[in-house]
Amino acid sequence: MSPQAKIHPLIRREKIQATIDRLASEIARDYRDKNPLIIGVLKGSFVFMADLVRRLDFPVEMDFVRVSSYGNQCETSGKVKLVRCLATPVKGRDVLLVEDIVDTGLTTSFLLGYLKRKRPNSLKVCALTNKPCRRKTPVAIDYLGLEVPDKFIVGYGIDWDEKYRNLPDICFVEMEC
Ligand code: IMP
Repeated sequence: MSPQAKIHPLIRREKIQATIDRLASEIARDYRDKNPLIIGVLKGSFVFMADLVRRLDFPVEMDFVRVSSYGNQCETSGKVKLVRCLATPVKGRDVLLVEDIVDTGLTTSFLLGYLKRKRPNSLKVCALTNKPCRRKTPVAIDYLGLEVPDKFIVGYGIDWDEKYRNLPDICFVEMEC
């Protein structure tokens, strides 16, 4: 742990799990007969994706993309780069993009453009957390878990410089300057 940071709980694991129960029932209602292609955004969404898909009691397929926009700082570079492309064909599929957090919206907006060009039948977004006050570009979130305040969060798959992904709660980082 960095000596310049303190980690405080923000959303406890029970609340996260109850939120995913709700999201899974909303998704089941809309996708039950559609064999959706669920695309997780690595690395931050891997824990959320694993918990979400295990609540879906109908056929789904999964794939992952990976983008980079953050270095080891807490601020986005503003430049989104595709680091791992999609292996599964998207044309004609009902696609659900799964994000850990929508912050400025630049990543989601970039990925929606990338996926739209592959001509899916439908394309929606599920995000566990949302920081609306940080938005730089508008993004419609079809299935939203929780809104979070303007704090840098970690845990439940979400990192700070590759650390803290394994925390079971979502926490926030208090910087000590
Ligand atoms: P956006 O492009 O600014 O919306 O950011 C999307 C990505 O940035 C997320 O998928 C995260 O990987 C990362 N990110 C944004 N806010 C945070 C945060 O508070 N903690 C950790 N990562 C974040």
